[in-house]
Amino acid sequence: MSKRVFITGGAGYVGTMLVRKLLAEGYTVDSFDLMLFGNTLPKNSKLKIYEGDIRDEKKLEASLKENTDIFIHLACISNDPSFELNPKLGKSINYDCFPTILDICKKKNIERFIYASSSSVYGVKDKPEVTEDEDLFPLTDYSKFKADCENILLNYNCNFDKIIIRPATVCGFSYRQRLDVIVNILTNLAFFKKEITVLGGKQLRPNIHMDDMIEIYLKIIEEKRERVNNQIFNAGCENFSVEAIAEKVKLIIGDDVNIVKKSTNDNRSYHISSKKIEKHLNFKFKKSIEDAIKDLKDAFIEKKLVDTFNDKKYFNIKILKDAKLV
Ligand SMILES: NC(=O)c1ccc[n+]([C@@H]2O[C@H](COP(=O)([O-])OP(=O)(O)OC[C@H]3O[C@@H](n4cnc5c(N)ncnc54)[C@H](O)[C@@H]3O)[C@@H](O)[C@H]2O)c1
Repeated sequence: MSKRVFITGGAGYVGTMLVRKLLAEGYTVDSFDLMLFGNTLPKNSKLKIYEGDIRDEKKLEASLKENTDIFIHLACISNDPSFELNPKLGKSINYDCFPTILDICKKKNIERFIYASSSSVYGVKDKPEVTEDEDLFPLTDYSKFKADCENILLNYNCNFDKIIIRPATVCGFSYRQRLDVIVNILTNLAFFKKEITVLGGKQLRPNIHMDDMIEIYLKIIEEKRERVNNQIFNAGCENFSVEAIAEKVKLIIGDDVNIVKKSTNDNRSYHISSKKIEKHLNFKFKKSIEDAIKDLKDAFIEKKLVDTFNDKKYFNIKILKDAKLV
């Protein structure tokens, strides 16, 4: 019997790709999502799609089947500007309902809970290697509530395995595309506007290709309990400066792209080390930022992604501005 995986936020940028991969690997999947950015999930007899709010305790509980093995929690207001639009709403989705979600998982006897935190929980660090045991100094409420949920999960009394992933910024193509994350923003600008403005440029930004992100979730699902239970894993393939990312974009999109450099007072630099997941789980990152840029370029050429500056669905904040969520 194939394992059953329940994913909140299964229709999101990462979720929709993860669902596809799990189906391809033979898993039975349930996606539970508000569909804020639409539904790009495939039709498949092994996939059940629930449209619902994770704050709706009754609906969530009714949707989570007793024979669920793995619960992956991706759903949230997933970047700083969207969170800041309505902090009360952001807190209710990203934090307040979290203990109830754990209670429901406990009641349904799931085997393993995987929480998508964020590498932004570290804040700015001078050390060259920002490893999982570093103190956390989240600089925004979005990051602060990620760190708070990590704590709640680690201290929760239950029999299921608990795993925390701290992803870098994800880049590359998805059927539910985001064009509000760094590599994707620069590639969109370069391809269509032929100009990228880089503010400062020396600031480091950790990134991870979508395919590696998905492979990491798969790895965590499949690993033995003793190797992952109560573990935290950073997940980032490369830390490059914004300037270096812009140069990579130019190299792939074309010589006619103009990089304009401007000064900024915001020189916050972020970086992480992902050696733990490489060594402890023998995980090999296979894709680069260049691969993500190439994938996006192909999607633009093939018109899989169109109207990429005006269509609101590519930008979380634009959709959330119009959403009538309370
Ligand atoms: N994409 C990144 O660069 C990145 C980096 C670090 C961490 N993460 C984390 O990974 C997870 C997935 O990120 P993503 O980029 O796919 O985000 P996304 O915004 O594309 O997807 C989030 C999904 O959650 C759903 N959602 C929001 N509120 C909900 C609610 N109340 N009830 C049910 N569903 C709700 C949305 O409809 C959306 O489909 C998030 O937890 C995010 O914080 C992402």
